[in-house]
Amino acid sequence: MLAFTRLSLAAAVLAPALSTHAAKILVQVGPGGQTIFSPSNVTASVGDVVSFQFLSKNHSVTQSSFASPCEPLAGGVDSGFQPVAVDATNLSEFSIAINNASKPLFFFSAQTALVDECNLGMVFSINQDANSATKSFTNFQANAKADVPAAKATAVVSSSTVAAAPAAASSGAKILVQVGAGNGLTFSPSNISANTGDTVSFQFLNGNHSVTESSFASPCEPLAGGIDSGLQFVAANSTEIPEFSFTITNGSKLFFFFSKQTVPVNECNKGMVFSINQDPNSAVKSFAAFQANAKADIPASTATAVGTKATAVPAKASSGSDILVQVGADDSLTFSPSNISAKAGDTVTFQFLSKNHSVTQTTFAEPCSSPLFGGIDSGFQPIAPNATAIPQFSFTLNNANTPLFFFSKQGAECNQGMVFSINQDPNSAKSFAAFQANAEADIRPAAKVNKRGRRVHARDFSKVVGK
Ligand SMILES: *[C@@H]1O[C@H](CO)[C@@H](O)[C@H](O)[C@H]1NC(C)=O
Ligand SMILES: *[C@@H]1O[C@H](CO)[C@@H](O)[C@H](O)[C@H]1NC(C)=O
Ligand SMILES: *[C@@H]1O[C@H](CO)[C@@H](O)[C@H](O)[C@H]1NC(C)=O
Ligand SMILES: *[C@@H]1O[C@H](CO)[C@@H](O)[C@H](O)[C@H]1NC(C)=O
Ligand SMILES: *[C@@H]1O[C@H](CO)[C@@H](O)[C@H](O)[C@H]1NC(C)=O
Ligand SMILES: *[C@@H]1O[C@H](CO)[C@@H](O)[C@H](O)[C@H]1NC(C)=O
Ligand SMILES: *[C@@H]1O[C@H](CO)[C@@H](O)[C@H](O)[C@H]1NC(C)=O
Ligand SMILES: *[C@@H]1O[C@H](CO)[C@@H](O)[C@H](O)[C@H]1NC(C)=O
Ligand SMILES: *[C@@H]1O[C@H](CO)[C@@H](O)[C@H](O)[C@H]1NC(C)=O
Ligand SMILES: *[C@@H]1O[C@H](CO)[C@@H](O)[C@H](O)[C@H]1NC(C)=O
Ligand SMILES: *[C@@H]1O[C@H](CO)[C@@H](O)[C@H](O)[C@H]1NC(C)=O
Repeated sequence: MLAFTRLSLAAAVLAPALSTHAAKILVQVGPGGQTIFSPSNVTASVGDVVSFQFLSKNHSVTQSSFASPCEPLAGGVDSGFQPVAVDATNLSEFSIAINNASKPLFFFSAQTALVDECNLGMVFSINQDANSATKSFTNFQANAKADVPAAKATAVVSSSTVAAAPAAASSGAKILVQVGAGNGLTFSPSNISANTGDTVSFQFLNGNHSVTESSFASPCEPLAGGIDSGLQFVAANSTEIPEFSFTITNGSKLFFFFSKQTVPVNECNKGMVFSINQDPNSAVKSFAAFQANAKADIPASTATAVGTKATAVPAKASSGSDILVQVGADDSLTFSPSNISAKAGDTVTFQFLSKNHSVTQTTFAEPCSSPLFGGIDSGFQPIAPNATAIPQFSFTLNNANTPLFFFSKQGAECNQGMVFSINQDPNSAKSFAAFQANAEADIRPAAKVNKRGRRVHARDFSKVVGK
């Protein structure tokens, strides 16, 4: 299976090569902390790939024009800002495949936060003509330093043909992923396996997408310190294909990504997600579950970065649905949703997002006083503010005919309304609303609870899995 995947990817990489002699031309961005591209200009042939390696600070490679060196070219390529952590172990790379060597291309770093880097002369060109006043790198850089303002947006190219990037020659494999192929909201393939040393290259073919690292738990939220291509707009008349790549430094790790575009639709919610080294047999590591989370729009939980090391929940054995309930989202004392309907065979998964809560089964009559004997109880699940893992607790419902009631047994949280139910009937006396009102009123009826009734509840579950 693994071998098959890698073979077919290798074929996909080799197929579109334009020329067997295509070169990869490496350009360093910010070497030694300097505000420069090195080299400052290169000559490239058709089929060559110019790869920009971001080595320090927070620069961009943004296409401009000879006339307006420090203004982004409409429809031009743009790496977006690529911040590099001081202790970065892997480096982002942004590449452009050349399909017309007669056309000089001009670029600048769009960073202006501390200093306008373009005005400092941080510019670059491909196929300059040193002998032409309007095509030389020297004149272009002089214009940049003189801060020549935007003149006019001139149409550049009219061809709609796009160049295919040739296979790269590196020691690890190069795995190609197409972004937006056929104008779809897709990464193709949707998930890959990669080893340490492999380079994953994303080719932006259409639209305005990004490749942004997230986490299994929060598919549609950027991971703090994670990889991000920035939004890559590809005009219909674009002749260059922006390519964004990175090298895998740990082939044992899982990586999750999404397109952060939300206009006109939230692409992540449409399932435009991608993963590396998913495990199809793990509920918290499979691409399918990740994509389902993305479509269900799991919101950001806490401000903390969440890792991909969420505690393993065994794969769902049944064919029922997965129902996700967030516990303590946004630091609130809530289960979200507060009540659900579930069928026999459905799996209910609780994600603990903040503080120190529990999911503990109780009775309708006496919500907050003690756990139901023999009932479900996740135990306390403390979440540190800097937590990198999200504990999950799941069970599969065996009996959908009886309403089930739960509370957080932490302190007075139940009295503050932190309760949950499954298969309540809003029109019956045992509605979720009445249950929550009982909890807030701290109802403790004198009547003893019938033990046989508790046994019935205990049999409502087929399996209880810990975090
Ligand atoms: C890149 O390195 C950072 C830490 O330096 C790590 O968090 C991230 O997962 C790495 N990404 C890849 C794709 O190797
Ligand atoms: C390549 O670029 C040059 C200069 O801009 C242009 O004259 C020529 O038509 C282009 N060739 C193709 C095939 O687009
Ligand atoms: C990189 O620079 C951009 C533009 O100034 C800024 O918005 C962004 O926050 C910076 N990123 C980091 C990590 O400093
Ligand atoms: C263009 O780049 C070459 C090296 O690739 C360098 O020798 C030359 O000085 C550069 N031209 C200018 C004007 O900086
Ligand atoms: C693409 O077309 C737009 C509008 O039609 C134009 O402004 C832009 O300069 C063109 N870009 C290229 C790279 O041809
Ligand atoms: C690409 O998408 C971003 C975010 O929606 C938007 O700000 C930007 O204007 C878009 N670029 C183009 C050229 O449409
Ligand atoms: C690689 O990732 C795995 C899984 O996250 C982790 O257990 C291991 O320590 C990592 N190895 C290195 C060298 O960072
Ligand atoms: C993961 O990728 C493989 C290879 O492209 C594909 O066959 C499989 O269907 C993908 N898994 C999912 C859940 O989409
Ligand atoms: C979580 O709450 C329980 C019950 O109040 C307490 O015993 C435990 O120490 C708490 N855990 C942490 C890490 O605060
Ligand atoms: C989280 O914060 C605590 C207390 O500040 C610290 O001891 C612990 O090492 C931190 N853990 C991580 C993963 O950063
Ligand atoms: C029960 O859950 C549904 C769906 O989440 C919600 O619309 C409704 O308000 C909840 N009922 C109560 C009483 O909170």
